[in-house]
Amino acid sequence: MGAVIRAESVSKRFYLHHNRTGSIKERFLGLFHARHRTERREFWALREVSLQIAAGESVGLVGRNGSGKSTLLKLIAGIYRPTSGQLLVRRDARIGSLIELGVGFHPELTGRENIYLNASIYGLERAQVDAIYDSVVDYAEIGPFMDEPIKNYSSGMVVRLAFAIAVHLDADVLLLDEIFAVGDAEFQRKCERTMQQFLERGKTILFVSHSADAVRQVCGRACVLSHGRLLFDGDVEEGLATYDALLAHEPPAVIDAALL
Ligand SMILES: Nc1ncnc2c1ncn2[C@@H]1O[C@H](COP(=O)(O)OP(=O)(O)OP(=O)(O)O)[C@@H](O)[C@H]1O
Ligand SMILES: [Mg+2]
Repeated sequence: MGAVIRAESVSKRFYLHHNRTGSIKERFLGLFHARHRTERREFWALREVSLQIAAGESVGLVGRNGSGKSTLLKLIAGIYRPTSGQLLVRRDARIGSLIELGVGFHPELTGRENIYLNASIYGLERAQVDAIYDSVVDYAEIGPFMDEPIKNYSSGMVVRLAFAIAVHLDADVLLLDEIFAVGDAEFQRKCERTMQQFLERGKTILFVSHSADAVRQVCGRACVLSHGRLLFDGDVEEGLATYDALLAHEPPAVIDAALL
């Protein structure tokens, strides 16, 4: 099968705001004189990343904090646009994403209302949500809390709900960013089983995790990002070994950013 996601030399630039002095006097002067204002420095979160992901693949994306993993997922999800290069997603591919905890949810609304809200963002009609509602709640195993506003949920409960919705949307591609960071072990095993079934049905997964075991469990290929560059793309064990070597030898990208 052809590529479902294709990145061609994708780069993403952000601007970092750096306050030059921070004193009240300087800030006041900044109202009148440009040279007293905060500086804006460019920062490349991704640099010339090229990769292709075929339908049915499960790709683990690993790298140190700040290496660009979430940025890449957000580009694929269409939340960001590349500064340069091209990011192509197969036209008919529906993308389900769990990128940041709580995105697509409203904290003041109940779990029930958020299921409807979140599913409507994905383009489901009310009747379609009615049809999956019970199954989503069963899957999330947080039934007694469905009429509570989700601001009162624990972070594990929010992830359970978000994952339950994502897997019921019948997406072709699932973008999963550290979904195991807050869930308990039982939930993790359940997610892993669901992901296996998802892959058996020819779907595609892009999985960001800091856990080598989770990547082994879920992925058939690993991509390693370092300072926004794709350092390795291939075999899972080799990818994890490359990442281990980075952990041992390289300061995290976030420190670099601070020094810019
Ligand atoms: N909207 C933004 N504005 C400015 N800088 C940003 C923005 N989003 C990300 N960055 C910067 O881009 C870099 C990559 O961030 P990203 O979130 O992709 O890292 P990550 O690999 O997901 O890290 P982590 O493992 O900590 O989740 C970081 O230095 C971050 O500060
Ligand atoms: Mg991240």
